[in-house]
Amino acid sequence: MAPFQKIGRVFLTTLLLVQAQSEHATTSLFATVNLAPLPVPIAPAAAIPKPLKGSCRYHPGGGTCPEHAPCCLNGYCSDDPRYCSTGCEPKNSWKESSCFPQAFCSNIHEDFNQPRLASSKTFNGNPYQFDFTTDYNAESVIVQNSKLKISMKLDRIPNSYGRPQGLGSVVSTTRFMQYGKVKARIKTGSNSPGVVSAFIIRNEDPGDEIDFEVVGRDPTEAQTNFYYRTPPDMPTDLIDYGNTGKQPLSTNTALDFHDYEIEWMPEYILWKVDDKVIRHVFRNETKDDVGIDPATGQTRKRYPSSPARIQFGIWDGGQGSEGTATWAGTPTDWSKPDQTYEIQVDYVDIKCYYPGNETQTWPPAGYGPTKIHDGPYFTPGLDNRNGHDAGGSLHNEQESGVHAYVPFYKNPKLMIPAGCLMGLALVVVGTIEVVRRRRLSKVRWS
Ligand SMILES: *[C@@H]1O[C@H](CO)[C@@H](O)[C@H](O)[C@H]1NC(C)=O
Ligand SMILES: *[C@@H]1O[C@H](CO)[C@@H](O)[C@H](O)[C@H]1NC(C)=O
Repeated sequence: MAPFQKIGRVFLTTLLLVQAQSEHATTSLFATVNLAPLPVPIAPAAAIPKPLKGSCRYHPGGGTCPEHAPCCLNGYCSDDPRYCSTGCEPKNSWKESSCFPQAFCSNIHEDFNQPRLASSKTFNGNPYQFDFTTDYNAESVIVQNSKLKISMKLDRIPNSYGRPQGLGSVVSTTRFMQYGKVKARIKTGSNSPGVVSAFIIRNEDPGDEIDFEVVGRDPTEAQTNFYYRTPPDMPTDLIDYGNTGKQPLSTNTALDFHDYEIEWMPEYILWKVDDKVIRHVFRNETKDDVGIDPATGQTRKRYPSSPARIQFGIWDGGQGSEGTATWAGTPTDWSKPDQTYEIQVDYVDIKCYYPGNETQTWPPAGYGPTKIHDGPYFTPGLDNRNGHDAGGSLHNEQESGVHAYVPFYKNPKLMIPAGCLMGLALVVVGTIEVVRRRRLSKVRWS
């Protein structure tokens, strides 16, 4: 797996750099920031960014972000409020207060009648205005008949393994929950091998996660899992995949709606389907972490405990790395090019363990970029389909081999055929013109 993943990373990095550079060129008229050229990858090894703390990975020179582009998100720096909100990395930003504080949980029952849903392109970071965001590929998220529908279609370009792959999306809450109960009524989209439907609670930093996943290999089985401190850049061989649970449901989850619930408490996690407990995990029975928890004076446990967002998503696990494909089922059926897979959410009910202690004004005083202008902002990499792990920010078995988003006209693979075609067209036009002139001159002189 590891070599495959390396190849995937090199490819992803190269695309990200290509993308970032072209973004750079197209926005430099407006952007007063980041005019230094981005490093060009010399050898693949040099292009692999080291995901260290204190290094905003793809920013020229690395380190923490500069004052004029203070917020670090997904390895890029910008003063766009989107960069300073959800996912903003305080330690890699200009100042820790460059990032808006995490908006804390509030109880909601969302029946998707008129959800306050922003796309990743328009979200301004304000959790008082929006409850949910689409993290990438906003086109595949719609609200219809009071259902949230997240669909996956065949991507325009093959993945880093050279195989056709679906491109889905992820919808996340704008607020972070630390313990609580989340119940959602869902119809999965996992009616082909490879299609993964996910309902999870996750943060990128420090990388805790609790999940429900249904994979197309067997849509009658609910998979449950939890992870402790597995940030997006963690090498897969260091990730503990040993907490998976599987529960046969004797019903096809892709045919009907069912209630899925995660009850996440300081001392235990319960997973329920249609109000029946299918799994429990006690904190005191999880593995030990190193060190002592100063709050309790006891040994730390490898138990998810940090504030996290609730996410729904669908992604293609059948066409990427071998491990993921085996787990999700393979190959994903893309025999019909207009095939669509769709996860639907009828409602989500969130009951916070710590409700109502969030910041009351927005933007919160003293946080965010020191100067906020009206844009347009320099937003490198933000709308990449960074399908890291379970498509976007969902986390799962191995990386899914999803690549960065590159518009077709920037796709290096299309440059050569496009160039050849243009060359051919010139030759044809030229030849016609020469023939026409010869004829003309013959007429004149004969
Ligand atoms: C863990 O805690 C639960 C109740 O909170 C208890 O029933 C169980 O016996 C405990 N397990 C261990 C190994 O102490
Ligand atoms: C919310 O309150 C709980 C309990 O008092 C506390 O542990 C937590 O840190 C608070 N969160 C925020 C964001 O204030």
